[in-house]
Amino acid sequence: MTVIASKCPDYKVTVVDISEEKIKAWNSSNLPIFEPGLLERVLKARGKNLFFSAEIDRCIDEADIIFVAVNTPTKTFGEGAGKAIDLQFIEQTARRIKENAKSKKIVVEKSTISVRAAETMASILHAGNNSVQFEILSNPEFMAEGTGIRDLENPDRVLIGSRNTPSGLAARDVLMDIYLHWVPEERLITTNLWSSELSKLATNAFLAQRVSSINTIAAICEVTEADVTEVSRAVGMDSRIGSKFLNAGPGFGGSCFRKDILNMVYLCEHYQLNKIAAFWEQVVSFNDYQMESYVKRILQAMFNTLVGKKLAIFGFAFKPDTGDTRDAPAIYICKRLLEEKACLKITDPHALDNAMKDLQGMKGVDFIEDPYRAVEGAHGIALITEWASYKKLDYQKIFDAMEKPAFIFDGRNHLDHKALYEIGFNVYPVGKSALKHL
Ligand code: UGA
Repeated sequence: MTVIASKCPDYKVTVVDISEEKIKAWNSSNLPIFEPGLLERVLKARGKNLFFSAEIDRCIDEADIIFVAVNTPTKTFGEGAGKAIDLQFIEQTARRIKENAKSKKIVVEKSTISVRAAETMASILHAGNNSVQFEILSNPEFMAEGTGIRDLENPDRVLIGSRNTPSGLAARDVLMDIYLHWVPEERLITTNLWSSELSKLATNAFLAQRVSSINTIAAICEVTEADVTEVSRAVGMDSRIGSKFLNAGPGFGGSCFRKDILNMVYLCEHYQLNKIAAFWEQVVSFNDYQMESYVKRILQAMFNTLVGKKLAIFGFAFKPDTGDTRDAPAIYICKRLLEEKACLKITDPHALDNAMKDLQGMKGVDFIEDPYRAVEGAHGIALITEWASYKKLDYQKIFDAMEKPAFIFDGRNHLDHKALYEIGFNVYPVGKSALKHL
């Protein structure tokens, strides 16, 4: 919404939330999320054509277009638990819109929901003898965290799904007018509602599948002396495949990939497409295996015991340039290392507050801002998130502060392995042979 406000000075954008605390933060200089470039843009537009308010009912009534961007987590209870999307917030929002709308509205699904979820919204909005006209559009979001502003300002495509009726197409054109302020027309794609909803799930599923695919290749590399960086370069230069999203790692994380694939699995099961459900479910279960493999590699390298050993964890966020730790591989990996009775010193430039919440009540873990302090007396370093700042550290100084033999498990192939080996580290990359002095 900040990008829309900054690109469309002729529109007034008001963001509402049921959390007054969040709205307060959005109205301050301490925004509730860390995203490069966001604060500058908020400060520029706020108070001019961008507003943050907790007065939801009034703002619903005043708006012509309402973007619904509420959270749609995986259901944790009842039918579909662990797979289906919990639609309670979508439903509550639809009811609130219906109660407060006195004039015609275009309601835009921004949240990622299941295929045919627009139907649920429509049923609620059109129920009873309400004379207000609602038109529902699907406009899924493809931006990624950490690069959110760049992705929004220069999107590969903007997708708008609508009903193929005169009022559906008219509403679609109203939304297109907004994006046409900065997105070239050829990048605007229009489809029917269901294609748009499914395209969102399919895109995340394909991306996650690529990550899992390269991680399977990394496992083969580790036993055959092939090098996953070389293989991924060779594979990615095939223009039919492309080079992005081919970095091996400790497994994918984030609030979307797992949730969206499992949602698609649930959808397939619902339609008795069981083989297809199993195909996609394998992407998620392989990812669990990948996180466990990273832990096993640490355990085996460190003489099959971590009891009482200190491990510095470099990075807890699910990816760099965000403080978000939802579904971060670090959560699983750290819990497993703690089970092995290791002592963890976790460091991260932006995610320590969330890390503390994720590991609340667990013994044997400290959260330390300064990586140099985190490594004091450590037996090993596990790099889980590829923050740029980790490349710039003085690894000789780090080596000197550690117990020997000193181990480094570069879960992202982020550091200069040869240089680390020459300093004296035993280096364990992903998808490459280890460099060991042992
Ligand atoms: C993802 C999609 O990339 C966005 O297009 C989508 O809009 C978003 O989900 C969403 O549905 O909201 P995001 O979860 O922010 O974005 O992050 P990604 O950049 O996709 O990374 C996901 C995970 O895959 C991270 O843990 C990352 O470290 C991992 N990854 C990514 C790899 O391990 N290797 C790669 O080559 C790429």
